[in-house]
Amino acid sequence: MRIRHFVPAFIAAMALSCAMALAQTVKVGLINTWSGPLAAAGEQIERGTKLYMKLHEKDLPTGVSIELVKRDDTGPNPEVAKRLAQELITRDKVQLLTGVIWTPNALAMAPLVTEAKVPFIIMNAGTAMITTKSPYIARVSFTLWQSSWPLGSWAAKNGLKNVYTLVSDFGPGIDAETAFTKGFTTAGGTIAGAVRMPVTTPDFVPFLQRAKDAKPDAVFVFVPAAKEATAFMKAFGDLGLRSAGIKLIGPGDVTTDEELPGMGDVALGTITMHHYSAAGDRPANKAFVAAFKAEFGAKEEPSFLAADSYDGMAAIFAVVIAQNGKIDPDKTMELLKGWKYDSPRGPIMIDPETRDIVQNEYLRRVDKVNGQLQNTEIETIPMVKDPWKELNKAK
Ligand code: PHB
Repeated sequence: MRIRHFVPAFIAAMALSCAMALAQTVKVGLINTWSGPLAAAGEQIERGTKLYMKLHEKDLPTGVSIELVKRDDTGPNPEVAKRLAQELITRDKVQLLTGVIWTPNALAMAPLVTEAKVPFIIMNAGTAMITTKSPYIARVSFTLWQSSWPLGSWAAKNGLKNVYTLVSDFGPGIDAETAFTKGFTTAGGTIAGAVRMPVTTPDFVPFLQRAKDAKPDAVFVFVPAAKEATAFMKAFGDLGLRSAGIKLIGPGDVTTDEELPGMGDVALGTITMHHYSAAGDRPANKAFVAAFKAEFGAKEEPSFLAADSYDGMAAIFAVVIAQNGKIDPDKTMELLKGWKYDSPRGPIMIDPETRDIVQNEYLRRVDKVNGQLQNTEIETIPMVKDPWKELNKAK
């Protein structure tokens, strides 16, 4: 009797412990901005990661799961990001790090991920040199050089002679200004004035007034995507730059898709260069936008931050699946180098040499289609590598 009961119980216990031994939970630290004045951008990252997880959890090998350990950096606060990354590495024992909207935060984390050998997949921070700061960094988002440099030569070749640059005074803004200026002046354009603005400014009016007084053909702008972009656009309209015939151009952060409905007609005609538009006419994008709306609401548009974080999760899934849930840091970096994906933004690849993203750049114009504003893609520059790295290659 006893033995008859014992045997099945023993087998069941063995089966359970085998399953537990096989079960692998990969812990991924997601550092994102969930609070503070810039949290709207963080919501896009949250949505992109959540959507990918929901649609693709079934693709993980049996017994393998991914746990996102979420931490709030509250904005561009490098000290906070550094502390959170330290805690995620030492206390929570995460095997991968991801997220990070802000360049100063990514830079503060770079020495930690090198020291601890924790692969760090950047979902936004776009200053070109970030990826040179650690061999454990790979970037799925963009660099400002990818958009602003080609926009500079496009502007000079398309009738703009004098352009006034206005950028947020930190890494991505300075990259945008430098890249645009190089592309524009090399092609014969003249910079009418160049002003750097505080990263979170409640009031763009004084900066735009000075720009208007300089009477340029266009203002080139970089401000962080989401609410800052809308505040800038409103001030551009209120001060009458559009009606004075001054065009607005820049990387796509200023016409971020999810904010277009709230910006109103002042955004019409804005020309931007960017790697993603919710209006992009690609099967992978149509499917992504439909899934995004099904999950978050028919009126919601995904921005580049949602697309990039969706792709970031695709990269994470790829390395987890390839290693069957057993993450080796160096193997992970090797897998990321050359990783390719049919993204909503078009084909993407991680450059095996630089660990930075290679992707299409789209010249876009804000149009009204069926009563709704959208970033219409009007030209494509295929598979752009980060020009800053190309220009600064060791001779
Ligand atoms: C960055 O900090 O690199 C950054 C932040 C917001 C953007 C783009 C880049 O819209």
